[in-house]
Amino acid sequence: MKKIGVLTSGGDAPGMNAAIRAVVRAGHKRGMEVVGVLRGYNGLIGGELRPLGVRDVSDIIQRGGTILYTARCDEFRYEEGIRKAKATCEANGIEGMVVIGGDGSFRGAADLSAHGIPCVGIPGTIDNDISMTEYTIGYDTALNTAMELVDKLRDTTQSHDRCSVVEVMGHRAGYIALHTGISCGATCILTSEIPFTGDDVINRIKSTKTTGKHHFIIVVSEGVGGSEELAKRIERETGVVSRATILGHVQRGGSPTVKDRVAATQLGYYAVDLLSQDIGNKVVGFQHDELVNFDIQEALKMKKPFENDLYKIALEVSI
Ligand code: F6P
Repeated sequence: MKKIGVLTSGGDAPGMNAAIRAVVRAGHKRGMEVVGVLRGYNGLIGGELRPLGVRDVSDIIQRGGTILYTARCDEFRYEEGIRKAKATCEANGIEGMVVIGGDGSFRGAADLSAHGIPCVGIPGTIDNDISMTEYTIGYDTALNTAMELVDKLRDTTQSHDRCSVVEVMGHRAGYIALHTGISCGATCILTSEIPFTGDDVINRIKSTKTTGKHHFIIVVSEGVGGSEELAKRIERETGVVSRATILGHVQRGGSPTVKDRVAATQLGYYAVDLLSQDIGNKVVGFQHDELVNFDIQEALKMKKPFENDLYKIALEVSI
């Protein structure tokens, strides 16, 4: 391939810029031109392109967000949208695409591959909810952000002998909740993968109170929700003054951690390596810390087991 494109799609994640940088540099190293597509698949449909030379991606490895902007694109779910995107590629000599995003973005990459533009997907989402890979770009940074914020909440929670119910992101997956909960010493962690009811929360608060505990952190995954109601119920049924905090989009921002910068660089490099061999319709990721790739259709069918053993440990030590 002589010319490839790169786009970011879906929710932004810290480390996406590091991946863009790796794609651009690895592409140029192989004699390819690299084009940045702005605003995800919308930019591919509308022809919003920006040529990216090796120096255009200087000074971005440490930046959160994505210099290419990102969006979710309804039009790309239909044949008409895919045809327009293909036409943009053909008109601009783009022979392959790197798509950085989540499962929704990979469905688009599969469709574009089927229409003759080979695509390689790179998992970029703070949720770590992509089955074919143990790790997605942005997860570690988001965890560290959530941990720091809950640590700050703990200061005031402890000072007032209160309970803080903290809702973290993760779409429908509980990985952020589990890891944040463990790292912050939460009394309870609520995820949609493991049954842990409001009654369980109340009972645990009551029992830990009898052992001398005066303040409580309850971490709730976005997929479970209902933090405000839970905080009211805790206050009503245990007498502990409770507040709910939804951490929200602040979890998606900030400078990527070492882990995210390194993972993004490896994945970006590997994606270009595949395209340079004319291999498309793939998603790249990590299994047992090694780089792997799967056909997109296969990747989308895979199921990721939840970390039940880790949850059990959390439950046993948070007494
Ligand atoms: O996928 C990343 C994520 O931040 C999820 O955790 C969350 O459910 C979703 O995106 C929020 O999306 P939006 O930014 O469109 O509100």
